[in-house]
Amino acid sequence: MANDNHGFATRAIHQGYNPLEHQGALTPPVHFTSTYAFETAETGGAMFAGEQDGHVYSRISNPTLSILEERMASLEGGEAAIAVGSGIGAITSTLWTLLKAGDEIIVDKTLYGCTFSFLHHGLAKFGVTITHVDLTNVDNLRGAINKNVKIVYFETPANPNMRLVDISQVSKIAKANNILTLVDNTYATPYITQPIKLGADIVVHSATKYLGGHGDLVAGMIIGTQEMMERVRLMGLKDMTGAVMSPFTAMLIMRGLKTLELRMERHSSSAMIAAQMLERSPEISKVWYPGLESFEQRPLAKKQMQSFGGMIAFELRGGLEAGRQFINKLNLIQCAVSLGDAESLIQHPASMTHSTYTPEEREHHGISDGLIRLSIGLENIDDIIADLKNGFEALTASAAA
Ligand SMILES: Cc1ncc(COP(=O)(O)O)c(C=O)c1O
Repeated sequence: MANDNHGFATRAIHQGYNPLEHQGALTPPVHFTSTYAFETAETGGAMFAGEQDGHVYSRISNPTLSILEERMASLEGGEAAIAVGSGIGAITSTLWTLLKAGDEIIVDKTLYGCTFSFLHHGLAKFGVTITHVDLTNVDNLRGAINKNVKIVYFETPANPNMRLVDISQVSKIAKANNILTLVDNTYATPYITQPIKLGADIVVHSATKYLGGHGDLVAGMIIGTQEMMERVRLMGLKDMTGAVMSPFTAMLIMRGLKTLELRMERHSSSAMIAAQMLERSPEISKVWYPGLESFEQRPLAKKQMQSFGGMIAFELRGGLEAGRQFINKLNLIQCAVSLGDAESLIQHPASMTHSTYTPEEREHHGISDGLIRLSIGLENIDDIIADLKNGFEALTASAAA
């Protein structure tokens, strides 16, 4: 059994599970059950009334998910966690619970496409005001605060353009104004950044990405205080979204977590080499990777990131058309959305993950048409570099034609 004093990798492997309580089974049992038998009618009633702990129905909790929840709470440095059916399920379950008509949420300038869409086409319909603020400068946050603001929400690094937000500075300002800080930690993972330890109140994840790590599931996680997680579980998850995670998925995520530290180290070291190679290429106008000396927010990256992760954004001088030619010439790196898998993935945000923005919105929110998003996988770096060279050959060939 691990405890909170153990190291990250140890807790990622052991936290929340003692084989001796499960007939010695080294890996946690997968509890395929929708409901739970109560010993007596009185026990069932007491559980429903919240007077007694226990599982009632799998839309609320499940013993396999509980192990994952304890593990993730420990890795993020939070009191409690909730495992849910997708990253969007995590975001919607949390925000539906914490906001009401008349409230305002301040969000960073750049967000994942479906989060942007949920805010503007979902929450806004129910009377919540969505205000985008460039959170890379905290003075903008100070200027935007008013009595209706209940939450400040951001991704760091942001999908797709790698902007960073200073978690401790934002959380400090938010706390002083009774505003909750909510961080989407999907890109960094708790191995790289632990927002709660820097002052944030809630962390959400698309566990589909690095936490699962193998591209074989869709899932989400929410981490925060016991009291807040109880509210999100019993309102947002149980009664509003019903975004339940399957126990089988929980088992796959726990398998993924066992190698999270190893994988993030490998993603980070390979991405650094790939980013440097891209930066040296004459066809490229700009590369965004927090590990590069040229990265504008490098001091912040060094302050709040333990390594720099596997995500790179870049722009080709030839814009969108050059980007398409480049992607189409790759053999190993797959053209696909999602990220954080063992396989390297490349995609074009403007026509794919961020096509939920209108062209005008993309321009306003800093997502250019020529931007390419690259998720560096776990393949041998020489093979990844050789494949990127294939892409550049396509550009040279077309320039020569
Ligand atoms: C930063 C970020 N947050 C949330 C999501 C949504 O997660 P899911 O696809 O698991 O619903 C994604 C998906 O790409 C993402 O990149």
